[in-house]
Amino acid sequence: MTTVIAIDGPAGSGKSSVSKQAARELGFGYLDTGAAYRALAWWSKSTGSEPDDLATRLDDFDYSISTNPDDFWVHVGSDDVTEAIRESAISEAVSDVARIPEVRTFMKQLTRGIIAAENRPGIVVEGRDITTVVAPDAQVRLLLTADEAVRIKRRSAELSVASQQITKQVTDRDASDLKVVDFITPAVGVELIDSTELDLPQTVQAVLSAVSRQLAI
Ligand code: DC
Repeated sequence: MTTVIAIDGPAGSGKSSVSKQAARELGFGYLDTGAAYRALAWWSKSTGSEPDDLATRLDDFDYSISTNPDDFWVHVGSDDVTEAIRESAISEAVSDVARIPEVRTFMKQLTRGIIAAENRPGIVVEGRDITTVVAPDAQVRLLLTADEAVRIKRRSAELSVASQQITKQVTDRDASDLKVVDFITPAVGVELIDSTELDLPQTVQAVLSAVSRQLAI
């Protein structure tokens, strides 16, 4: 059976870099679940449809993603959208897509299918609702947080965009995403890792220690 390491957390918590590195060290696959919501927002824009019409068109969403932590790509049909889904316009549009109930049900099934198809011994899956909705029975469940000021600083360094714009993107997006799913309070059985005072290697280490501890139970 594939070992599932579920990691949730807010924007800029370092989830993606930490999860990817942890996956490399464990020899596991890596799944960025936010990429599917972003790709759906991209598809909605590129086909000129309103987010609210998406519910009726989900069967036509032709999505694929790499789970190789060393070769990451995201495709919609024959388009490589790996870079395009990181643009500000998508970050600003994605919450409106993620709040649609039919989209969330669709994403839950899509994500479970990708996890089931993983052929490495395990997979690190990061998102907002992985520990609670998508894989509540994962062998390891973690919530990665950091103080808001630190998250904004990390995000702006990552994207080299003025921090004022990032502040708005991070806080507005978290506020709107939080209306749909709570990724701030750890659910019962979910271990909280606060990376405010930790750099990337230290956070990876904290995650790997939690993984060993939880897998030993
Ligand atoms: O992790 P990210 O910033 O790439 O996620 C993009 C959006 O997708 C985020 O604003 C909320 C949504 N999302 C979600 O609702 N559930 C997930 N498991 C992952 C992402």
